[in-house]
Amino acid sequence: MSTQRTGTIAVFGATGQQGGAVVDALLDHKAPVRALVRSLQSDRAQALAARGVELAAIRADDPASLATALATVEAFYFMTPEANSLEEVEAEIRVGTALVDAAAETGVPHVVFNSVFGADRESGVPHHDSKHWIEEHLRKSGLMRATMVRATAFMENFVTVMAPSLEHGEIVLRLPLPEDVALKMISVRDIGRVAAALLLDIAEAPGGVVELVGDELTGPQIAAAFGARAGLPARYETLPLSVLPNDLDRAMFRQFAKAQKNSSDLAVVRSIEPATLNLVEWLRATGWTAPADVAGS
Ligand SMILES: NC(=O)c1ccc[n+]([C@@H]2O[C@H](COP(=O)([O-])OP(=O)(O)OC[C@H]3O[C@@H](n4cnc5c(N)ncnc54)[C@H](OP(=O)(O)O)[C@@H]3O)[C@@H](O)[C@H]2O)c1
Repeated sequence: MSTQRTGTIAVFGATGQQGGAVVDALLDHKAPVRALVRSLQSDRAQALAARGVELAAIRADDPASLATALATVEAFYFMTPEANSLEEVEAEIRVGTALVDAAAETGVPHVVFNSVFGADRESGVPHHDSKHWIEEHLRKSGLMRATMVRATAFMENFVTVMAPSLEHGEIVLRLPLPEDVALKMISVRDIGRVAAALLLDIAEAPGGVVELVGDELTGPQIAAAFGARAGLPARYETLPLSVLPNDLDRAMFRQFAKAQKNSSDLAVVRSIEPATLNLVEWLRATGWTAPADVAGS
């Protein structure tokens, strides 16, 4: 293990979930952070500035702005924007390519790309294959050093798109996932902590790649964890893929079912960040409470 870096770390996506967690963890380590933002005036950018983060205005389609923002940094973290259509996948690839090219052009010593699990190969999931393509581009870029951190499903999805409901005194979780398939998951907080440890050279990912996973549970096991937290009975129901809003998500959930055969990096993640949360710990740490009972609505 080497000494912690002391120079500036650049972060793309700092106003978002994952990039924001990376900034939180870097600031915890008292590292100087430069956030690459498209608007210096946005509330989120200003909130970062108020915490001592340097802001650099960039446009992904303006290489000069990216080169200026990446000048003199010791390491660079980037994620790529959410894509819900094939057009957005194309845009995601354009952003990722521009960031890699700018980092290579500027000679950034270490780049950490926040990819997705399974991006070591093409899977037929458009917004995962985009990340596979960006990983390949990064490898061929001539950069001195690149690390891939491959995020699994965010635990935070359980308070938004995958939230369980409370129905007549019972916690009910419904997902388009067969009940014997284990879903890999991680908290956004821990994505930030692991990425920060790598950016700061506090830790190293074996072979330059780590799958970001904090827990691996089947639908019935996830429902049971929520039920135990609420002190209520719980059940799981498998939904058809047709409930998903687009072809991209349907392809992704099909892939989730296949991907469980692949081994997990749970132990590697814990060796980098020993306090990585499993689902039960995440429920406790976030103070999750059951939603209102539909019977009362
Ligand atoms: N949800 C999951 O469970 C999950 C799991 C694994 C991987 N992923 C992947 O995670 C990614 C999304 O990450 P997230 O949830 O952290 O994103 P997020 O919260 O939506 O934040 C997106 C960030 O990117 C910035 N951004 C977007 N487009 C930009 C552009 N053209 N130029 C400059 N900045 C731009 C945004 O800046 P502004 O403030 O200017 O908008 C914001 O800081 C997706 O690629 C998704 O596939 C998600």
